[in-house]
Amino acid sequence: MNLNKQGVLKHLLNPERFNVSVFDTVDSTNNLLKEIAKEQGKEGTVIIADSQTGGRGRYDRKFYSPKGTGIYMSILLKPRLKAHDSVLITAAASVAVNEAVQKCCGKLTGIKWVNDLFLNGKKVCGILTEGSLNTENGGFNWAVLGIGINVYEPENHFDKEIKDIAGAIEKKKQKDLRNKLCAEIINRFFYYYENLENRGFLESYRKHSVVLGEEITVIKNENNLKATALSIDNDCRLLVRYENGEEEYLSSGEISIKI
Ligand code: BTN
Repeated sequence: MNLNKQGVLKHLLNPERFNVSVFDTVDSTNNLLKEIAKEQGKEGTVIIADSQTGGRGRYDRKFYSPKGTGIYMSILLKPRLKAHDSVLITAAASVAVNEAVQKCCGKLTGIKWVNDLFLNGKKVCGILTEGSLNTENGGFNWAVLGIGINVYEPENHFDKEIKDIAGAIEKKKQKDLRNKLCAEIINRFFYYYENLENRGFLESYRKHSVVLGEEITVIKNENNLKATALSIDNDCRLLVRYENGEEEYLSSGEISIKI
């Protein structure tokens, strides 16, 4: 069964809480949902597409989004959080995707701080959280959580620039799997999101981290700095120790690691 609205709704725990739309193709589900957010869209509005022509990742990188094989999903949120806590949304979503993949596919992904999921050494999911900030209170007017998953290998395979780093979760297509995964992710994410202050996702986030204890490269102002990833604190900041012994908490930015 293809990705479709009824297929997603039937697996949702609280279908009435969400306004789900499924499209064949859009430019970017994040872009579309940002327009809806500006027009007073409600929390729980979900846009899912079978393909994207302008799928985006962090740092304005392209997110390869071919048809029929992936999940490209964005969820509108009205977080009661300070802007610097947006990392909690991304981290809770990473755990929700990891658990959904485990439940629906029986496979365990590894989480690369802060927003990527890996399976067998290849990236299978990326998460991009974008928001509009309320300058009066330092919080959010809204946030758009965008999740891109390579469920199956694309029919024409991954582009040559990404074929060494991108992977897929399943080899063989399974009826209804993408619908089930979308619903499971929404169910699990909202469970954590509604109780973010309890950090219910954090233990699992740390447990499935592929970064903790590893030698990593911190990419900072275009410099590559070697470091060891020591721990992840309750605000999801990554504590690293550089080669010169200095330690620093990172709350965003990019790290690279060989997996
Ligand atoms: C990354 O790998 O840096 C994040 C990738 C996020 C991709 C998803 S797909 C759904 C949503 N729409 C987009 O254009 N991007 C996100």
